[in-house]
Amino acid sequence: MNVARKAKTEFGDFQTPDALARRVCGVLRRLGVSPGSVVEPTCGTGSFLRASVDVFPECGRFLGFEINPHHVQTAKSVTRAEVGCENFFEKDWPAALSGLQSPVLVVGNPPWVTNSDVGVWNGDNLPIKSNAQGMNGLDALTGKSNFDISEWMISHLLECLTGKDAVLAMLCKTTVARKVLHHAWRRNLQISASSVYLIDAGEHFGVSVDACLLVCILEPGSASRECAVYLGLEAPAPESTFAYRDGKLVADLGAYDTYGYLSGPSPLRWRSGVKHDCSRVMELLPRGSDTFENGLGEVVSLEPTYLYPMLKSSELMKQIPTPTRFMLVPQRSIGEDTSKVERETPRTWAYLQSHAARLDGRSSSIYRNRPRFSIFGVGPYSFAPWKVAISGFYKRLDFRCVGPAGGKPIVLDDTCYFLPCRTRRDADLLTGLLNSEAARGFFGSLVFWDAKRPITARLLANLDLELLAEETGVTLPRWSDSSVLQATLPFEKHLIGAAHSTMGVKD
Ligand SMILES: C[S@@+](CC[C@H](N)C(=O)[O-])C[C@H]1O[C@@H](n2cnc3c(N)ncnc32)[C@H](O)[C@@H]1O
Repeated sequence: MNVARKAKTEFGDFQTPDALARRVCGVLRRLGVSPGSVVEPTCGTGSFLRASVDVFPECGRFLGFEINPHHVQTAKSVTRAEVGCENFFEKDWPAALSGLQSPVLVVGNPPWVTNSDVGVWNGDNLPIKSNAQGMNGLDALTGKSNFDISEWMISHLLECLTGKDAVLAMLCKTTVARKVLHHAWRRNLQISASSVYLIDAGEHFGVSVDACLLVCILEPGSASRECAVYLGLEAPAPESTFAYRDGKLVADLGAYDTYGYLSGPSPLRWRSGVKHDCSRVMELLPRGSDTFENGLGEVVSLEPTYLYPMLKSSELMKQIPTPTRFMLVPQRSIGEDTSKVERETPRTWAYLQSHAARLDGRSSSIYRNRPRFSIFGVGPYSFAPWKVAISGFYKRLDFRCVGPAGGKPIVLDDTCYFLPCRTRRDADLLTGLLNSEAARGFFGSLVFWDAKRPITARLLANLDLELLAEETGVTLPRWSDSSVLQATLPFEKHLIGAAHSTMGVKD
């Protein structure tokens, strides 16, 4: 990657077209914004300064800050603008924003990069973790494994503006806008109204990501916890409203008003599928009675002991979920000693050994300091004979009942979530409840469909299944992990033929 490209990656250097900056200022004008001062924190070549000088001629001062000295030179040519070459992360924002004529409009387009994009290039364009500027509660953000730099910047600016008469208007990813608002609402920042206007990032910046203009109006003493969503910058009315209710982010306030009564802790624990981060070794297609082909094209002979028929999201969401491959599951619980695999199944152990480089090289820290060839997301529940499952990736609220194949429990991969069940009866009952109009309406009110993984165990855990069952007149089946384990079907060697025939394999 050349130097210019590296700078783009590290500094998110995509300048806003003048026409878009003007449209953004037009939205603010229509909202009745009339700033006493305008501040653009990462102003680049100054498109928002230029636009705001035109749209808000009555405003007293136009201040811009930018890290790139070449851009600073260009931005300085904007009439009436005062531009400084400064690093956002080193600036004392509370001091910079105090003493300015109210209302202060903080407008712009912070870099659209994540800390890991910066890290890849050994860059240092990252927030300081020391909390030197009194950023209460933001340490948590920076401690996350991957976060957007702009999320941190916008959250910090809102923290600095709370209690003032101010407006914040920023172009950002829609996921960032939501996280910023979630953080602000949890922290009781004094926001009187928020709105999000979707923009076409492909058209304006040539990038494929859901993006928007986030507008927050701040007024001392206010406490709005809602955000209106407009489908475009010139849309006359909001399409929907997302909000903070009952300690969580709600995607569709209208639907939540109808179904929110079902909110409560789930009496049953949602689980995620098995995580191994090495599908080419751990997932195998059946080729004969005890021969299998892995993702590297190798045909190997393995004992059946640790092999389980599996489903991944795309298979789970088919009309009739049917496993086509096996997953090698060398542990029954997280951290379990894997040396028994060596004792019990020498061919399986030799296979794992022959791919040790790939398995030991898995980058995720969850495998560190664990027994060799460890997997994750495994427990007695993984081996429950029946499961009610859903894909985390598919944009569909469709719960599937999954039973054993060839006498062996089907395991799911880590793109799926499920409730483990002991019997088919329990699984059918839960599948019916979860696919009911009320459950779908409830989940629908919480799901942000543009998220990378719209459905998560955390989201599913918000439904009070007990209440739903009561309302439907059925008794919710209950079980513990150990009773699920007892219900687990023993996998006998002779049953592999049955598993194979389920997958259409001839011996
Ligand atoms: C997405 S561009 C937007 C520029 C300008 N606001 C606009 O809308 O045209 C992000 C800008 O942030 C600047 N930037 C990145 N990291 C910065 C930092 N730590 N401090 C100040 N500016 C920074 C980049 O150089 C780039 O000009």
